[in-house]
Amino acid sequence: MIEQKFPLRDEDIPRQWYNLAADLPTPLEPLRTPTGELVTPDMMAAIFPMNLIEQDASQERWIDIPEPLLELLASYRPAPLKRAVRLEKALDTPAKIYYKDESTSPAGSHKPNTALAQAWYNKQFGTKRLTTETGAGQWGSALCYSCAQVGLECKVFMVRISYDQKPYRKILMETWGGTCIPSPSTETEAGRRFLEQYPDTPGSLGMAISEAVEAAVSDTSGETKYSLGSVLNHVMLHQTIIGQEAKKQLAMAGVKKPDIVIGCAGGGSNFAGLAFPFVNDKIHGDEITIIPVEPQSCPSLTKAPFTYDFGDTAGMTPLLPMHTLGHNFVAPPLHAGGLRYHGMAPLVSQAVVEGLLEPMSIPQLECYAAAVQWARTEGPICAPETSHAIAATIREAKKAREEGREKVILFGYSGHGLLDLAGYDAYFKGRLEDYEIPEEEFRKALLSSLEGLPKAEGKKTGKWG
Ligand SMILES: Cc1ncc(COP(=O)(O)O)c(C=O)c1O
Repeated sequence: MIEQKFPLRDEDIPRQWYNLAADLPTPLEPLRTPTGELVTPDMMAAIFPMNLIEQDASQERWIDIPEPLLELLASYRPAPLKRAVRLEKALDTPAKIYYKDESTSPAGSHKPNTALAQAWYNKQFGTKRLTTETGAGQWGSALCYSCAQVGLECKVFMVRISYDQKPYRKILMETWGGTCIPSPSTETEAGRRFLEQYPDTPGSLGMAISEAVEAAVSDTSGETKYSLGSVLNHVMLHQTIIGQEAKKQLAMAGVKKPDIVIGCAGGGSNFAGLAFPFVNDKIHGDEITIIPVEPQSCPSLTKAPFTYDFGDTAGMTPLLPMHTLGHNFVAPPLHAGGLRYHGMAPLVSQAVVEGLLEPMSIPQLECYAAAVQWARTEGPICAPETSHAIAATIREAKKAREEGREKVILFGYSGHGLLDLAGYDAYFKGRLEDYEIPEEEFRKALLSSLEGLPKAEGKKTGKWG
């Protein structure tokens, strides 16, 4: 019998996070204000607690995970690594397909890995409540769960289109004691402005971030902080336990190194969590193809320039050096709501600039076809975001078949789709379509977003292409 599962014990959970910033060949460009000045930690202090601000700026390669936080993480970790033998057979591929299953966390995705960390550090700092945004609802529910674990209040601004498409996510958040409101809302100045300008907007992650940041900074007591589920360095950092565990599990499977590592990328944290420990190996000589996958209709890595842009639509955050479609870009209402973000994590973006990663974009219908093939072979129902990684895996497994090569593919199974069935229903009823941004729309969003902002240099060593 072929071995399909590679279980670790609690004591195998990594004791440290891996910080790619310490190993990137070209250092990350700093955060800036719209007039080009450097952003100081004090400027960030209205939004985030200082312990996380320090972590975000750290250049240490390894950062210890505090023991009480490890104990919280151990309630659902280590996460399983499995081999998809039935999909391999259906594809008639010589490739071996392994997947790291993050869907087994309480909220059903990788998001609690950083939600627990952020909630815990905020609690240590003396924060009483957190605000945040959520796209598909995975992040919002992960943060509500985590706040319940450490004793914080939580308020979530959920992108309107996902709020309507995924009502059960709101109930999850409420069950964990949080509140969830559709964004744009009338609760914030930014929200009221968006509604006035675009009364029928489906909302976007950029808009919801503006609302959540405003809700945090407008509490002058300092007891409310904002929490971001992706994009920032400390979020990437917290997720790196995924890839570190996967390495130990691949070793149990007798795999020295994977040939291909694949993860879907919205703001970049799921991808980074799995991939960064392997990017480290690549920097140090291993040959690995590392692929972040994004939707064809929201192609920040594959189509957009690398430059400074705001993380949100209203321009309340500092400027981040990243691949960006422009903060005014509103992606079409595809079901993979967690991938509808205009930008990409600076660390992931810089790794792309360096040529360390090979980004791919895939249309929605191919992703749903992959999700259905996955369900009918392996069994589980994946999140629409995760289907992008599965679709890329299928492409690569077919390529291995054509080349007759026994490649090892590792992909990130970032979440289950048991609360995303409306998307599957729409797919079966033929109501979904592919969408490529018209060139004019793409340029318009970029021009209107980036006018007057400083440019990032996008330097690279040229070593990886
Ligand atoms: C299941 C799942 N996978 C992936 C993502 C993408 O986010 P990120 O790129 O930050 O991992 C999300 C975001 O909501 C998600 O819910």
